[in-house]
Amino acid sequence: MSLDIPHKPDRIKVIEPVAIITKDERKERIKKAGYNVFNLRAQDIYVDLLTDSGTGAMSQQQWASLMRGDESYAGSRSFERFAAAVHDIFGFRHLLPTHQGRAAENILFSAMVSANDIIPNNMHFDTTRANILANGGQPVDLVIEEAYEPEKVVPFKGNMDTNKLLALINEVGRERIPLIMMTVTNNTGGGQPVSLSNLREVSRIAREHRIPFFIDACRFAENAFFIREREEGYEDVSPIEIAREMFSLADGMTMSAKKDGLANIGGILAMNDAEILDATRDRLILMEGFVTYGGLAGRDLEAIAVGLYEVLDLDYLRDRVGQVSYLGAGLKENGIPIVEPTGGHGIYIDIHRLLPNFPQREFPGLSFVVELYIQSGVRAVEIGSVMFARKGEDGKEIFPKLELVRLAIPRRTYTRTHLDAVIEGATVVASHKARLSGYRIAKGEGPLRHFIARFEPIMHG
Ligand code: F0G
Repeated sequence: MSLDIPHKPDRIKVIEPVAIITKDERKERIKKAGYNVFNLRAQDIYVDLLTDSGTGAMSQQQWASLMRGDESYAGSRSFERFAAAVHDIFGFRHLLPTHQGRAAENILFSAMVSANDIIPNNMHFDTTRANILANGGQPVDLVIEEAYEPEKVVPFKGNMDTNKLLALINEVGRERIPLIMMTVTNNTGGGQPVSLSNLREVSRIAREHRIPFFIDACRFAENAFFIREREEGYEDVSPIEIAREMFSLADGMTMSAKKDGLANIGGILAMNDAEILDATRDRLILMEGFVTYGGLAGRDLEAIAVGLYEVLDLDYLRDRVGQVSYLGAGLKENGIPIVEPTGGHGIYIDIHRLLPNFPQREFPGLSFVVELYIQSGVRAVEIGSVMFARKGEDGKEIFPKLELVRLAIPRRTYTRTHLDAVIEGATVVASHKARLSGYRIAKGEGPLRHFIARFEPIMHG
């Protein structure tokens, strides 16, 4: 076997049937969905790359652990196992389970963020951004400039520009910055990793200015894998040890266990500071549930406790990141520009380079996503103007720097056969890119419009 094909660390025991409808049927379904793939029915999709969140396959150990689920309202054994795993890997003194990542964000921000506060991050994900805005704060992205150059190959493209961070602290004062965040890996910027030396530097600056430092840990294991692969001195260090070092630099974290928890639901809020715990605990009870279940069933806590270790297995990570680079290499070989280097959980097609003359106000990314679904039954997601364009103070539309389409790969779910179908579908769409139509919003606005808006094609000429 060739060395660049990682061996498959598992085989299939349970199968989920997938039906394929015809191209004409897909045309009709996407029209009915208002050209928004969030409105499609899952049964009308062949390969679903909408997200890697909560869509992965659980292992036999996880399924077996569900039977151990202790559904006691308070103080369950399942919580103890969950807390032991979280403590062992992330090391924070206090932790609260939540039903998913955005609940952890909302609870944290509603406790820590006041009107006019500023929250820096390498790049905020959409729910993080929306949760900060909802609490009156202002999210700021301070990722290194290379992150905005899709073709530029740098090993840690998710790093924060620490000069920008220092300049921001000097400009607005530490009083207006209730916390500094770092997202590992940087989802919005292409699933790109953050280096340990960058985390160390951000941590140092945060401590120097007495600002709490929180990590958005959704894809922490993929980030640890890239550190092992790319950062000097870590080639022989195990992913779990790297993870421990990453989190020892922070004061707390939010996490969606639907990603690197290898679970279908769940989230974590953890911190060292007892005052932050006090401020968040009541909100958790109010919004999610008691402190030992936080909106989850006991069996969900069990699945996460097992998943957090499985996700750090080196063979698993090689296969996982190997699938992503396989898809990326296939697309690139067929002339489809992607964000490079390929990241941890998906491929991001660079729509600006693929469709250079397509006006951003007509949503080129959405147009590609719609056509990819029609051609091949693959569901991708737009991360561009639909998601991020905003009206400025003068009423003019401000478009994002990057116009991307994300193909997120669910964990342990699809085979190379599926990935080959994605490559073929995207190649067909790219081959008739001159004929793609533009779109306008028919209904739905606001920071979460990408989930709910309905669109209509623009007829030219
Ligand atoms: N932070 C990051 C970096 C994320 O990618 C997500 C979710 C969240 C927070 C929120 O977690 O979904 O459990 O509430 N990202 C998913 C995605 C939805 O498709 O990338 P959640």
